[in-house]
Amino acid sequence: MATETPTRALFMLFGGTGDLALRKLYPAIFNLYKKGSLSKHFALVGLSRKELTDDEFRAKIIDSIASETDDKAQAEEFASHFYWKSHDVNNLGHYAELRTIADELDKKYELEGNRVFYVSMAPQFFGIVAKNLKDQHVLSENGGFNRLVIEKPFGRDYESAKKLNDELTSAFNENQIYRIDHYLGKETTQAIPVIRFGNPIIESVWNQNFIKNVQVTLAESLGVEDRAGYYDTAGALRDMIQNHALQIVSYLAMDEPNTFVDTEIRKEKVKALESMEIYDAEGVKQNFVRGQYGAGDGSPAYRDEPGVPKDSNNDTYAAGKIVFNNPRWGKTPFYVRSGKKLAAKQGRIDIEFKKPLVDIFAKGTKQPQELQSNVLSLLIDPKVGIVLNINTKNSEQGFHTETVDLDYVQSPERAAEVPLPYERLFHDILNGDGTYFASWPEVAAAWKFVDPIQHLWDATQPDFPNYKPGSMGPKAADDLLARDGNSWYYPNVR
Ligand SMILES: NC(=O)c1ccc[n+]([C@@H]2O[C@H](COP(=O)([O-])OP(=O)(O)OC[C@H]3O[C@@H](n4cnc5c(N)ncnc54)[C@H](OP(=O)(O)O)[C@@H]3O)[C@@H](O)[C@H]2O)c1
Repeated sequence: MATETPTRALFMLFGGTGDLALRKLYPAIFNLYKKGSLSKHFALVGLSRKELTDDEFRAKIIDSIASETDDKAQAEEFASHFYWKSHDVNNLGHYAELRTIADELDKKYELEGNRVFYVSMAPQFFGIVAKNLKDQHVLSENGGFNRLVIEKPFGRDYESAKKLNDELTSAFNENQIYRIDHYLGKETTQAIPVIRFGNPIIESVWNQNFIKNVQVTLAESLGVEDRAGYYDTAGALRDMIQNHALQIVSYLAMDEPNTFVDTEIRKEKVKALESMEIYDAEGVKQNFVRGQYGAGDGSPAYRDEPGVPKDSNNDTYAAGKIVFNNPRWGKTPFYVRSGKKLAAKQGRIDIEFKKPLVDIFAKGTKQPQELQSNVLSLLIDPKVGIVLNINTKNSEQGFHTETVDLDYVQSPERAAEVPLPYERLFHDILNGDGTYFASWPEVAAAWKFVDPIQHLWDATQPDFPNYKPGSMGPKAADDLLARDGNSWYYPNVR
């Protein structure tokens, strides 16, 4: 994964002592450093209101990368590139100090003016940081790159997302903005274009003529944990479907790009997302289902979780059907679902192919056999792999059919080599590659699809709670597929 020439860059990390930074971002940067994608020419300034010395900050960094290395000298050398600055994002005077530090570190580490500004803070700060960086001249002006990285969530509806985007683009160009969606850093998501377009036996049948339905499942076994403050204002539709699920859908549904570069891939993703049918109120009722977990197996109902209002109507589960108005997918439904406190943590894509038009082994044989649909499963999480379920003959004489899995599941050895999602994403940011980041037109199309669903849900009283912890969600989500003559492939995998 190392670039041939390590990238030179200064990172400014807003929210430098936050949970995400300590758990995910520093280990990811360390792994890039270990593999040679960063060399001696990098520095990171950690920022938040806390007063820390550089040494105190470096001790936190060494702690945060402890699980990635046993090499104390290497960890200390890495941490020596880290600097702390107490900074309130609303204080304009603090940005002048940032400019001075940035210029000093640029000289000291010969960074050629390259700057990455990572805003790992609550979303209300995204816009103000971008504006102040520009207005207070913290952006590099000597030919290096300026890149802005924004965490999720990107808005809570189309209007707020557009307002945020307008704020960001008044300071940075679209091609300088990297909107993080960590599902796009996962191995399987990144493999979708190769699995599809690199295999004629797959791409030639990747359309409505051969595929009966596509299912994207992003199931979590955990409940809301200690995130009630945020989660109760978001819900499964906003927190998982609008971003992660629809991004995965866009790679599954897009047409082949002219070339596999970010600008061309994004064009195709946008085309796919913009061809999703937008539902009116009746369409929402028919095609989307929400849920909230009750109590069970010794665990509290969502409404009894710490920090959740007793009368909360927040969705901890969302499932729905997406219909594309385009020639490739017209008659093939894409189903998406995500929820908390479900039977298992499971991220996967199941593609069910159509059965043969004539069930030839059911005719003229002594014991009629029913053929099953072929199913291609792309496993995202916790297992990473590809499974193709096909019909074959069992060991009896005659045409007795059975299904078997042709499967590739990543070995622990291979898994240990695979970069962490944030490591891949940092690597791409340093290389200026936006392939696995959501562009604004994609985000806008996703919100335009989700808004009518959320509006109807906000305006109507749900019958919550409606699913048990440890189940796969409300019954209505099974009925949704049954109406089309389909059923969820997982967890009843053959
Ligand atoms: N944590 C996760 O697993 C996770 C997962 C996906 C996405 N995200 C996203 O990542 C972002 C960060 O999440 P997080 O969990 O790391 O949040 P967090 O733990 O609450 O950290 C927030 C950071 O912002 C700083 N901060 C707050 N107000 C500030 C101000 N006025 N000026 C300067 N700094 C200020 C805080 O430090 P001080 O109090 O010292 O100022 C702290 O370092 C959010 O957008 C979140 O949605 C997080």
